[in-house]
Formats: sequence, structure tokens, C-alpha cells
Amino acid sequence: MVSRYRPVTKTITHYAANACLLPICQLHGAAITTVEGIGSTKTRVHPVQERIAKAHGSQCGFCTPGMVMSMYALLRNTPQPSMDDIAEALAGNLCRCTGYRPIIDGCRTFCQVQSSSIQHEAAITISSISSTDYCWNSLFDKDQFQPLDPTQELIFPPELILTSQTPRPEPLTFQGERMTWVSPGSMDQLVQLRSRHPGAPLVMGNTNIGPDIKFKGIIHPLIISPTRVTELFETTQTPEGVWVGAGSSLSEVRTLLENLVPQYPPEKTELFRALIKQLGNLGSQQIRNVASLGGNIVSAYPNSDLNPVLAAGRCKLSVVSSGGKREVPLNQDFFVNFGKTILKPHEIVVSVFIPFTRKGEFVGAFRQAPRKESSFATVTTGMRVFFSEGSRVVQDISIYYGGMGPTTVSAVKTCAAIWDDETLGRAYEVLLEELVLPPSAPGGKVEFRRSLTLSLLFKFNLEVLHKLRHMYSFTKNVNNLNKHEQPEMNKNKSGMEKKKIIISQTPLPQSVSQEQNSQDPVGRPIMHRSALSQATGEAVYCDDLPRTDGELFLALVTSSRAHAKIIQLDVSEALKVPGVVDVITAKDIPGRKVRTMCGYDEELLAGSEVSCIGQMVCGVVADTRAHAKRGAAAVKISYEDLPEPIFTIEEAIEKSSFFEPRRRIERGNVTEAFKSVDQIYEGEHRMGGQEHFYMETQSMLVVPVGEEREFNIYVSTQWPAATQEAVAQTLGIPSNRVTCHVKRMGGAFGGKVTKTSILASVTSVAVTNRPVRCILERGEDMLITGGRHPVVGKYKVGFMNDGRIIAADIQFYTNAGNTIDESVLILLHMDNAYNIPHLRGSGAACRTNLPSNTAFRGFGVPQSLMFVENMITDVSMVLGLPADKIREINMYRGPSVTHYKYQFNPENLLRCWDQCKAKSTFSSRRTAVDQFNQQNQWKKRGMSIIPIKYGIAFGEGFLNQAAALVHIYKDGSVLVTHGGTEMGQGIHTKVQQVASRELHIPTSKVYISETGTNTVPNTCPSAASFGTDANGMAVKNACQTLYQRLEPIRKKNPKGLWESWVTAAFFEKISLSATGFHRGPDLYMDWEAMEGQPYAYFTYGACFSEVELDCLSGDYRTLRTDIVVDIGRSVNPSVDIGQVEGAFMQGLGLYTLEELKFSPSGLLYTRGPSQYKIPAVCDVPLSFNVYLLPDSYNPHAIYSSKGIGEPVVFLGSSVFYAIKDAVAAARSQSGLAGPFPLDSPATADKACLASASHFTQKVRVGGSVGRWAGLWVGL
Ligand SMILES: Cc1cc2nc3c(=O)[nH]c(=O)nc-3n(C[C@H](O)[C@H](O)[C@H](O)COP(=O)(O)OP(=O)(O)OC[C@H]3O[C@@H](n4cnc5c(N)ncnc54)[C@H](O)[C@@H]3O)c2cc1C
Ligand code: FES
Repeated sequence: MVSRYRPVTKTITHYAANACLLPICQLHGAAITTVEGIGSTKTRVHPVQERIAKAHGSQCGFCTPGMVMSMYALLRNTPQPSMDDIAEALAGNLCRCTGYRPIIDGCRTFCQVQSSSIQHEAAITISSISSTDYCWNSLFDKDQFQPLDPTQELIFPPELILTSQTPRPEPLTFQGERMTWVSPGSMDQLVQLRSRHPGAPLVMGNTNIGPDIKFKGIIHPLIISPTRVTELFETTQTPEGVWVGAGSSLSEVRTLLENLVPQYPPEKTELFRALIKQLGNLGSQQIRNVASLGGNIVSAYPNSDLNPVLAAGRCKLSVVSSGGKREVPLNQDFFVNFGKTILKPHEIVVSVFIPFTRKGEFVGAFRQAPRKESSFATVTTGMRVFFSEGSRVVQDISIYYGGMGPTTVSAVKTCAAIWDDETLGRAYEVLLEELVLPPSAPGGKVEFRRSLTLSLLFKFNLEVLHKLRHMYSFTKNVNNLNKHEQPEMNKNKSGMEKKKIIISQTPLPQSVSQEQNSQDPVGRPIMHRSALSQATGEAVYCDDLPRTDGELFLALVTSSRAHAKIIQLDVSEALKVPGVVDVITAKDIPGRKVRTMCGYDEELLAGSEVSCIGQMVCGVVADTRAHAKRGAAAVKISYEDLPEPIFTIEEAIEKSSFFEPRRRIERGNVTEAFKSVDQIYEGEHRMGGQEHFYMETQSMLVVPVGEEREFNIYVSTQWPAATQEAVAQTLGIPSNRVTCHVKRMGGAFGGKVTKTSILASVTSVAVTNRPVRCILERGEDMLITGGRHPVVGKYKVGFMNDGRIIAADIQFYTNAGNTIDESVLILLHMDNAYNIPHLRGSGAACRTNLPSNTAFRGFGVPQSLMFVENMITDVSMVLGLPADKIREINMYRGPSVTHYKYQFNPENLLRCWDQCKAKSTFSSRRTAVDQFNQQNQWKKRGMSIIPIKYGIAFGEGFLNQAAALVHIYKDGSVLVTHGGTEMGQGIHTKVQQVASRELHIPTSKVYISETGTNTVPNTCPSAASFGTDANGMAVKNACQTLYQRLEPIRKKNPKGLWESWVTAAFFEKISLSATGFHRGPDLYMDWEAMEGQPYAYFTYGACFSEVELDCLSGDYRTLRTDIVVDIGRSVNPSVDIGQVEGAFMQGLGLYTLEELKFSPSGLLYTRGPSQYKIPAVCDVPLSFNVYLLPDSYNPHAIYSSKGIGEPVVFLGSSVFYAIKDAVAAARSQSGLAGPFPLDSPATADKACLASASHFTQKVRVGGSVGRWAGLWVGL
């Protein structure tokens, strides 16, 4: 949080900001408060920290300090915030673990008005859900929270007030290694500096210049920072409007306009309100708090949200330079090209004039973005129309678009074609001709963008008609609009759209029995054991480890070609960069230069050839991160391209480029069965990949111990033993010289199993006698490490007219990338919950020249199940029967056998299904949805219910083992070590509960320090939802051994305390240390015989989701989600519900939001949060309910629990199928019936185009679709 004293207003302002965009020099005179500053576990935890932690809002904890500080900054300004305030404050913070619900629940405890009034804002409320059958209605007790006392907050340092009040007219200068920073003290100085250095940027918010420096490597030798020039912040009102200082932050502009709106009649503030609306959706609060008005205009982004509205609203700029002052209108002549305006390089924008509107004048602002919040717009627009007094004849109109070319564009011809609402129909045709995009236009989505220009104009038309109705009571057309056809009318009085947010608290179905000892923590919603450390910023992640003496940094150099020979690797320039000490290549690897996976070798560093963009070629070692990166940029590699790189699955199929083995499985006789069915349908589905987007990128620190070639590795990995082995092999030393330490990970989701071991191996090569750290930047991480496999599948399904599916044949092709990694084919889950008597599946992993994909939460299951569910949806559409009925008809019932001859009882699957239907009030929701759809033309609702049957444990039987080491110290404290790693999933918390129960001591006596290969050797990865099952059992085993050893002592002194027994045991020479071991089930799959026992048991669930789709823009909102999961007797319900919600949101992202885009040459474009959108707070269902199936027991896992880390990812697809249902409703309105393709993710563009509205049908892209567009999901 940044706090500043404003001498002009004599006020102190506090605002949250993104640290990565704040130049340190800009902070001169500001006070900075960090998460460490507001509270500590050693002194007093701040109420925000406490509430987020105790509400279970911190899993891996990597995002938690950011969440805490956004909320803290809000509370400093608004101690009793509304839910809107909270939603807005958190909109710019991302969390990949929790699903946001618990964070919001913790924060909402600060709201004065609690949930009852908030519920009214929701489209639906939770009142229809009975939770009376549950024992608790909350996972935390808010009565135990400390109150928030604003008087206890840190004060603004008085000395900063004094220095701010003392005028310092002379320029401030900071001199860096390569950059000079000058902050002029007056306008005169600024003008002089600007005229002497016209090429030097004016840095205000740094939100344009900063990313350019950071990501594009642009160097500005001189930076001018005019933040002390008061004229840039002045506001003046005139009878015609308001002059706003160009230096004002966008938040300040919004507050100013919000304050002005109530002071004037509504007709005067049309433009103000349009700007307020646009500002509410621009970037995030953290961005708006620093980004300046002038900066936004001058940056001239093609999809700037403000420029189209300012231009349509006839705003103008006051500009100053050494040549004097002038006024410049913001019109179509102002924007020249990408990032260019007509302003001269030495000119400075002093202020911006925002005029009042006149009676009969209306201004609209609309945008569509890949994610509703914190996302640049795909298309954005500002529109203004002025009608002659009392008539509907247009006197003046202006329409500007962003996102339709290299800069803001004016639809001049369209404006000329509109003179009343009768001519509007023709205007759409003109607009279509006027705003043309070539098929391969940068940004892609050409058809969608063109259709948006039409539908946004239509929205404006609706809005204007609505306003006219109020003004003049016109009857024709206007009164035909029903309220749902005015999508933008849901505004509060300031003109801001309401941000609906209601997230119901999760009822807790499972209670521990009355007989359970009150000290026994098993089954209770215990807070994550590190939550408070994470919320206070004390938790240590790999890169938090302090820099040691002589430490070096490794920066990686990656291939820029997809398939090429390396002709020359020239490192000479890199070695000249100050601080660079070495460059390591494949030749420097002393031991094994490859890693073998599934029979294929993968080079650690490319030797003579590269096979994807992003493949590691060499690494530059330097004294600092900055020097290493500069060195890496100086490495020159010359290539000779090899012919025909393969990128898509289709290309791989055509060229038979596969990894072996290819698998096939069949039950029954599919070919024969097709002959006896009523109908056959053939379909295809395409599913994009997914980036892990763990908050903590790949991180490692390799420290040489100094003797006998011994190394300590501090690393963020799910599989320490694999990293240990890989490093030992790479260095050609025995494993006993390498110790891996894993304290915690900031998320992993499968991405830190195999990839980390390669990165750690490469880092270890760089180590001579000094420690080497390697921390990937987000962009590098996304480029190098791959993600979830994209899949293309074809299916043929044979069914009876009553809905019974008799036969299905499904072919899957995954895009594995350039190496096999863990591209194992998943044919085992292809049946999901359905008993299809004749079922055949075949699969192939395609070898392509994209970065190698790897394990990701759910490991192929979220992909393979999409095909069977898609197939069922198609069957329902062919037959015209409800999809849930087709699902029910085909579901496993009674004692059942899978297609690989695994016997199981689906009773709990059916119970989940039935309870989910009941909890969601499925049939009445269906009626309500159908009614809504009949009454609404442009908005459609859709709903779906999806089941899951998910196998737990590793199919490779040997991986189902775990070990533990438990020490009891003489003071009675217990140190537990086990093979599982903590990545936010709460394994250490659950294991602590296990140890506490087995040793009959409070959890406070049990400590888990880290996972280390020196304490528990030969561990298996924490994956396959099997971590607690295996490691919990190993710890249980060790604790039972110890407790038994203490038995004689306990018998001697039954009333003694734990500490006294431990001391006595020591004096009686009883060992207080024990290992534990769990030998898990011997699972297997015999692919020849097509049968096996590949899972220990199934976790079941069902999920209902309902969405509302805006068919004009493709935007959707999940109104409600109800999940019922069978996880046996949960060891820790709060941890498990956290896993359910987090996995659901990750699935929602996978199926509806997250898109990987590649260039035609195979370069991943989406390499950061700007381009790749994971779900944010705005994506959480308005009503989000999770229920744990009661009365479920599981003999196969610890304390009758079940693994739950992965299964629910797939249930995110319920949102996909709800969108598909809404699209089907829209299509049926246009007379289209039957199955239709909708690929995953069902992003706004796909949903909008599939809806086949009047506008999308008008748009036809001429020519062939560019390769760029064809490659967008790496399929
Ligand atoms: C994460 C993120 C999300 C964003 N989302 C959106 C969005 O959704 N919609 C949107 O429209 N924008 C968005 N932006 C862009 C953001 O609004 C602009 O970058 C910002 O407004 C620029 O202002 P600044 O003060 O930070 O500019 P700076 O980076 O400080 O400067 C940018 C340029 O403007 C020039 N400049 C600044 N002030 C003046 C002046 N007074 N006179 C002359 N030249 C000047 C500078 O010389 C420089 O060239 C986003 C940016 C980020 C980083
Ligand atoms: S807890 Fe939010 S990213 Fe892990």
C-alpha cells in the first residue's frame, strides 16, 4: 500500500498498487506499507490477516500477502466496506488455489451489512437450499475474530508531511547504472526538460513504460517523472464541463466524476456516466490507482477503453510545450497509428476537457473482454448521439471503436448513414463494410470482433431507445423492449454497473461424533497450519531464502526456432557483460546429458538440434539476476531451419508423428453393436491445453556444501526424490551427496513433478564452488515448462430412441509436444459414470514441435471425460430429450464392471447425483430457465448437471508407497517428516492431525519443518490425489510404533502427562524415533488383456451449474453451482472443501476461459497474465455451494477418507455444458436445432458465434482463415 500526503488538499491518500510496476524513484516522499508491516505472528496478527487465514483463504499462500494488502488498503479508506467494494478491491488479485470463496468469506466479515442484504443483489439466492440437515453452517467462527480498530493502524510518518509541505522547486535526480531519473519541481522545468529530451518518456503511472522496460527490454537512458508538477493534477470546472489534470490517476478521475454526477441534471452528465462505467472495468483497481489519464490517452493503445469514449464525447486536450500552449481536439485525426498520436514529441498534455452533454444527447460505453475484469478489451466502444429537440432525428452522432485496428477508429461512414432509427438497419451494413479486418489481423478472433461492432451498436441503440422512452414517451419500438433486453440497465445511481457478488458459505455436512475426544482433531475444520505465516508474509518460499555470500544467478537461453540445427552458439558478447562469470552448454554437463522418460531420451540442454521454441540451449551465470538476464540476451545462436515443423494434431496425424505406445481398449463388440442400434451419430470435439499458472514459478537454489561433492538443493518440487536423482545423474555423483529440501510450494498442480528435475539438473551444472539460484520469470516459465495436453477426439455413438447408448467408439489424439514427458494416454476414464456395453477407445500422443506438455491436476481425465459428456449431449440433442435424462438412463447402477473389468459399486455416485439434483432444485430451475429464455431474446440461461467417477492412486503400482520419520524430543515436542510435499493442498495440516490423533497429543506439539530426501528417502511424487492416503498412513504407522513403545511407561503412570512419559522413556532407553511405511495397493493395468485394477477406489461427485449468457457479446456469468462430492469421512473438511472449490474454479478456467495461443512459427504468445486469463473473483459463481456426501465410508484410505485433490477439476465442465445449453436456446430461437460443435474452452467468442445471432450471421470472413488463427489453441 502506498500512502502519500497531498499538500494541495492537505489529505493523506492510501492506495494499493502493483509492486512490480512501481519504480522505486517514483516513491520519493511516499510511505510504503507491506504485509509484514501490518501484523506478525510474533506480535499481533492484523484482523485482515487473521480473517483470511481463519476463513481458510490461504492454501499455498503465495497470493495471500497480495490479498491481505488489497483488503487492508480498502479498509484504510473504507472501514466498513460493501461487498461491491470488496469485489472491486480484490478484482486485480489472482489466486490459483482457493477458488476465492473462502477469501471473500473472510473479507466479508468486515462488511457492516451481512449476507441477507447482499443476497438481494444476486440473480438467485441461497434461500432455496436447505442446510438444516447439516451440523455446522460455517467453517469458521467469526465471533472469535479480533475487531477491526482503525485507530490502531500505522500513522503516516509526520516527517513526510513536513517534507511535502516544504516546496523543493529544484529537480530531483537519481542516477542508476544505465538510467537517469529526473523529477522536475515545476512546469517550467518540465517543459525545458521535455524540449531538450523529446525522446525521454514522461513516467506517471509507469503502466505502459514499465512493462515495455521489463518485457521488451527497452532501455530509456533518461526518464522524466513529472509527479511533482502540480498543474498536472489540477481540476477546474467551467459552465461547459470540467478540465481534469492529465496527471490524475484513473481512480481519481473516476471519484471526481462520481462526485460531480449528483450535482448536475442527468442530461448534462451522460458522458461522465459513460466514463465512470468504462473506468469501472478498466484494468484493476491497482492499475487505476497509478495509471494516469494523460498516460492512457497518449499511450494510444488500439484497445484503450477511454479513448473511444473521450473521442465520441468531443473531449479536447490542453497541451503545452516550449512553443506555447494549444488545444487539441480528441477526434479521428488525433490517433495516427499504433501507440502514436498527432502530439509532437516535446508536447505535454496538461489537462483534458470533458464536456457536459446537452438535452437529447446520449453517450454509451461498452466493452467486451476475455475476462470481465482485469483484462484489456477485445472490442471497446464509445458512442454519442444528439437528437433534435423533441424529435428522433439525429443531429449529430459519433462512434469510435477500440480493438478494430492499430488504433482507436472512428466509424465515420456509419455515422453519416444514421439520421434516425429507421436508417439504423442500413447502418449495420455500412459498419460491416467500413470496419474490415483481414483474416489474419493481429489479435485473431476476426469474425467475433466484427460481430461485436454490430452488437455493441445494437446495445447502444437499445439503451438510447430506453432513455428516449423515459424522456419523450415514444411508443413505437421503444415500448416493445422488455426489461431483459436492456442489458446495460443494471446500474447504480453513479452510472456504475453493479458487480453482483454473492458467494454462499459452504454448509458442512460432516460432524465428528459426540464420542470423539475433544482433543482429537481428525474430521475437524482445522486451519491450514501455515495460514497465519502465509498471511503475515513470514512463510518462506524458495526465492525468499536470503542470498548467500558469492551466490550466482542462472538465466536460461532458449531456442527461438521450432525445428532447426544449431549452427553456431556464440557466447563471447555474453561473457563481456559485467558480472557474467560463465555460460553453460550441453558440453559442460559432467554426467548424463539426457533424462529418460517412458523409453525416450530428453536432452537437458539442446546439443546440435532444437525441436521447439522455448527449448533450453544454454544458461548464463552471473552475480545478479539483472546481469545474468543481460548476458542471456547477448548470447547469439545461429540456426539452420529443418523442414516442416509440426504444430497441430492434424499435422501430426498426417505425418504419423506419434510417441509409442499407442493404446487401444475395447469392451464388447463395438462394430457388431453399431448394426443393431436405432441411430448413429458421429461427432468431433477439440479441447485446448492449460497453463498451470502456479503463483510461484519454478524456483531452485543449489548450494555446494564444499566437501566430497555434496549439494543442498532448496527447490519448489512435488517430487524431491526425482530431483535428487536427476541432479546426481547429471553431475555423475551418487544420490547420497544430494539433499533436496522442500519447505513449501506456491502451487504446483502437476507442473512441478518432472519439469523441475530438469531445471534443477541444469542449475546444478552451473555450480562450481558458489551457490546458484534459478527462478523463472512468469513468461519463461510459461514458455519452457508446457502444461495440460490439448486433445482432439472423434466419436461415433450408437443409441436407441429411448436414449440408451449401446456402442461408442472414441479416438483421442493429444498434443504431447517435443518430448514424451508424462504424455500417458488416458483411456481408462473414458466411460466416466456410464455403463456403455460396447465401448472402444484408442489414443495416440502426437509428437510435435511445441514445448513438451506434462502432468496437470487430473492427468488426462479432464480431457478424456469431455468426449463422453459431449457425446451424451449430442445424443440428447439428436433425440430432443433432456441431457440429464440421457445421463441417468446410461449411468452405472448396481454392482458394476468398468470397460477394463474393474468391479465397483456405484451407489455413492448415484447418491451424489440425486442429492445434487435435490440441492440445486434441478427441476424447478429447469422450468425457471426455460421461462427466462422464452421471455428474453438476447440473454439466455442454460444449466447442466455432470457426474464424475474418478480413480484414485497411481496406476503404476510401485508408486503407491510412502514413508515417514517421526521423532519425539525430550520436551515432548514431535517432529514429523514424511514423503509428501506441501503445495497448498494441506497435506502437512492433515498429517499433523494424524500424528496428533495417534500420539494423543494436541496438534500444537507436532511440527513439520520440511520434506527432505535426507530424512525420508525414495519418496513418490505428491500427486494422483494420493498424498494423504499414502503419507498419512506412513505417519500413522510410525506414530503407532512410538505410542506402543511408550505403553509400559503409560501403564506405570497412567495419570502422567505426555512430557513425563517421554522423559521417562528416555531414561529407560526407549527409542523415541521411528520410521513408518505404507505399502499401498498393487495396482496394475494389462493393456494386452485390456483389464486391470488401476485404482484403489473411486471418488464420486456431481455438479449442477447455471449460467446466463449475453448472446450479443458472449459474456456469461455463472449464477449458481452446487457440488456434491463423496470423499468418505473427511480428515479435514475445510481443507477438502478448499480443494473442491479450487479444483472447480481451475476446471471452470480450463473449459471456459483459459486459451493458449501460438504464432504460426510455434511461439507461445500467451506468456503472462495480460494474455492468459485464469479465473478471477468475477468468475466465481454468484451462489456457490459445496456439500460433502454424508454417511460415506472408504475402507481403502486413512480414517475412511478419500482423495479429492484432482477429481473436481472436471466438474468445472458443468459450466461449459450450461453455456452450451444456453447457446442451444439461442440457436433454437433462430430456428436451428440439433447438435452443434462448441470447442473447449467455450470462450465468449465461441459462445457468441455459436449462438448464431442475427449479427454473427451477418459477418462472413472473406478469404481463408490465417494460419495464426488456426493455431490458437495449439491443437
Ligand atoms: C495490467 C494492466 C491492465 C490494463 N488494462 C487496461 C484496460 O483494461 N483498458 C485500458 O484502456 N488500459 C488498460 N491498461 C493501460 C493503462 O491504462 C495505461 O497504461 C495507462 O493509462 C497509462 O498511464 P501511465 O500514467 O501509467 O503511463 P506511463 O507508462 O507513465 O506513460 C505512458 C506514455 O504516456 C506518455 N505520457 C504520460 N503522461 C503524459 C502527459 N501528461 N503528456 C504527454 N505524454 C504523457 C509518456 O511519455 C509515455 O510515453 C492496462 C495496463 C496494465 C499494466
Ligand atoms: S493460495 Fe492463492 S495462489 Fe495459492
